[in-house]
This record gives sequence, structure tokens and C-alpha cells, in this order.
Amino acid sequence: MKYLLGLDVSTTGSKALLIDETGAVVASHTAPHPISQPYPLWSEQNPADWWEGMVESIRAVLAKTNAANAIQAIGLTGQMHGLVCLDAKNEVLRPAILWNDQRTQAECDAMTQIIGAKRLIQLTGNRALTGFTAPKILWVRNHEPEVYAKIAHVLLPKDYVRFKLTGDYATDLADGAGMVLLDVAHRRWSEAVLKELNIPQEWLPKLYEGPAVTGVVSEAAAQITGLKAGIPVVGGGGDQAAQATGVGAVQPGIIALTVGTSGVVFAPLSSYAYEPEGRLHAFCHSVPGQWHFMGVMLSAAGSLQWYRDTLAPQVDFGALTAEAGDVPPGCEGLVFLPYLSGERTPHPDPLARGAFVGLTVRHTRAHLTRAVMEGVAFGLRDSFELIKQASPGAITEVRVSGGGAKSQVWRQIMADVLGVPLVVAEAIEGAAYGAALLAGVGGGVWPDVLTAAQTTVKLGERVEPGTSVSAYESVYGLYRDLYPMLKPAFDRQAAL
Ligand code: XUL
Repeated sequence: MKYLLGLDVSTTGSKALLIDETGAVVASHTAPHPISQPYPLWSEQNPADWWEGMVESIRAVLAKTNAANAIQAIGLTGQMHGLVCLDAKNEVLRPAILWNDQRTQAECDAMTQIIGAKRLIQLTGNRALTGFTAPKILWVRNHEPEVYAKIAHVLLPKDYVRFKLTGDYATDLADGAGMVLLDVAHRRWSEAVLKELNIPQEWLPKLYEGPAVTGVVSEAAAQITGLKAGIPVVGGGGDQAAQATGVGAVQPGIIALTVGTSGVVFAPLSSYAYEPEGRLHAFCHSVPGQWHFMGVMLSAAGSLQWYRDTLAPQVDFGALTAEAGDVPPGCEGLVFLPYLSGERTPHPDPLARGAFVGLTVRHTRAHLTRAVMEGVAFGLRDSFELIKQASPGAITEVRVSGGGAKSQVWRQIMADVLGVPLVVAEAIEGAAYGAALLAGVGGGVWPDVLTAAQTTVKLGERVEPGTSVSAYESVYGLYRDLYPMLKPAFDRQAAL
């Protein structure tokens, strides 16, 4: 039997996942790591914690199996957009600044002004958003010049672990695109953007396609981890591209819908396209020669989690969502806006806020619960609408995964609001599974990513849109109108 290892440096832990050549999960281990928020808007982690956790997880997985001599290749994935700065001796210069850090608004504004809003979107597929990597580099230049002066290498989180494993400075194109320094159309660093922002290109890692081999496990890393020296390590992908790979969203038409804390709509593309206002992210896919659109809602299942924890802490999710199933679509005039953590798609607005609109004495807890579930579905639909506009014909099948996909009531609401059939994808191991599939391609187990996915991805129930589709049309129209109406209030609330 041949084995593949997927390594995921997520925001919460370092995970090692071992699968075999049939795609079956053999062993998995996650070592949690802390996150620090030393000031408002800041979010940081120590790269040393990722590596320490990954060593623990790799060792745990190897201890559970006899696979060490039969691992064909290793794939990496992880939280995107984070900034790791190394000096010329490869020492970490400051804690990594993470994807959910919001300190860089001034740098985003400056970047947009220097390059031009439209041109930046054309070149990089994206707007400058506070969580992305490029504005973080500018922030270090503006606020920590002594650190900036020592930078020799800039890496993304999973690529720090790659560096510790292989000694190479490398990244994959999907994660690289999230730095907003990539010429996404041509799959190479953007010389224009780097020059205009005055960021040295030699700081950046070498770029690879997702299944391409970037290096091999070094003797030193082999001693620490228990892996065999010389195992090839492939590019892998940012967590969203790897997650999509793991559910088989590796060809145009097949959408990955992930309803976790955040909600992600991921649409593979066979040629580069961008949303003219940058409301969708346009990144390279971890499938060679493919790109993807992505809409990101910041609070999807996270909205229901907040609601349950705050207003119905004694009730389990099954009971809460079942009771919402008895409420008619549209919740008798109650609408929820899910912008509890600000929003990215379609309103890139950190100041957006959550809201229940239309409360009356008629409304019960079940109405509120259902309103939250519908509001999240409407937020996902916003991304679907943008994808349909920017790339007609882009949606033929939607594969849903994540905690929010576990509720039958919620799955039906989503199928009705989106007006498309949903197919449940088994994706318990998340992005690590996609990384292991990419390793399988690089390691010669499968000829390409499509074959890897077709051989391994398991699909479950199919949910057809039901009789409520038309009822939701007018409620969705109202939902869409509410953000622009409430935006002045959100701004005033932020000022208060
Ligand atoms: C993607 C994104 C998140 C992070 C953390 O754009 O910001 O998915 O990668 O999971």
C-alpha cells in the first residue's frame, strides 16, 4: 500500500493526515496552537508553534501506523494571507500577522492609490483587503522599520513549515495569489505591483503549481519528525483551494460550498477572469491551469453558533434547527443580516454589523433561528449571483460541506434560496485531504488532480430545490436592499 501525507497549518492547530492510495483515511492528529490578540484589530501566532505542533502531529500519525517507509509524497495547506518575516539567517523576525488581522486599512488605502483601484484588480484579481499579505508588508515598513530593514524572506504560514521540512523558500500559486502580489492571469509574481510598492522580489518564495514537487524532506527534518529523508513535498494549496480539491471542485461547473464558521463559495475557472469591482476574489486554483472565483462570508455557521451560544445556550443545534423547520420561509417578515464580524463578499466592509429587521411580538425563538439560517443562505446567494454575472455557466453542481451542512433544515433552505441542487460532500478532514490528494498527483499515485478527486471523493445526499424557491425571491430582494439602507447606521455605530 502507498500512503500520502497532508499537512494543514490552520488557525487553530497543526494537523497531519495520512491517507492511502484508495483515498481512505488511515490516521490523523491535530496539535492545537494559541492565537494572540495583543491589541484591538491584531491577530498573531508564533511560527515556532506551528512547526512544534506539526512535528507532534507527524510523529503521532507515524506512531499509529506502519506507513513511514511507504509515504510517497507530502502536501501542504494552511491558513492563507499570513505574513512570516525571516532574516538572512532564517530567524523569525516578529510574530506572524494572520489573515484575520485588521490593522492595515491605511496601507490598503495607500496601495490602492499607488496602483489604482481598477488596475490593482486587473493585475492581481483582487482589491487590497486588510487581511491580505501585501498591506501587512507595508505595515511592517511603516510601523516597525527596524524589523523591515532585516527582512530577507517573506513566507506564508504553511510555507514556513515547508521551509522547516525541506529548507526551500517556496509556495504554491493558490496561496501565492492571496498575497495580492501575484500576476494572477500569468501565474507569476507581478513585477509592476512589486516595483510600484517597492517590495523586493527576491524576498518572495519560488512559485509552483499545486501538485509540483518543491523539494524533499531534509535529513535534519527527518530526524526531528521521524519521516524518511528524501520524501517529495509538493506545492499544495491555500486552505480554500485544498478544501475545494478535497471535495472534487477541480473542474469548471462544480462549486465547493463550505459552510463553516465562515461561508465560502468556490468556483473553478478554466481561464482567468476577475470581478470588475473586486467583490469576488480571483485566485489561481491548485489545479494546474485553472483559476477560481471565491466569495467569502465571514459569519456563516459562525452566525448560528453565536446565536445559539448567546440566546439559547441550553439547546443543542439539532433541536434548535428542527424547530426552525416548522416556521414558514421568510419567517413571517423577519430578516437577519449575518455581518456579525463585518463582511468580505459582497460588501468588503469591516464596519458592517449584524441585524434582525422586522421583529414583532408574533416572532418566536424558532422564527429567530430560521431567520439566522435564511440570512446566511442569502449571504451565500450574494456570492452565487456575483459568480453567475462574472462567469456565466459557471455553476452546474454544488458540493456542500462544513458544520452547517449537517442540518437537514439548513440544507433545504440553502438549496431553495440558491435555487440549485446541493450534493453533500464527505469532507471531515477538510483541507488536509485536498493537500494529500495533491501529494498523490506529485508522488505519481494519480496522473492528475481530476483523476485523484474522481477516485477518492465521496458524495452523499442530493438536496433538490423545493417549493419555496419563489417565496424566497422577494425576501432575498428585501435582504439585498437592507445593507445599503443600514450602511449609514453601521458607520455611525462604529463612530460611537
Ligand atoms: C481565505 C481566508 C481564510 C483563511 C483562514 O481567503 O481568508 O480561509 O485562509 O482559513
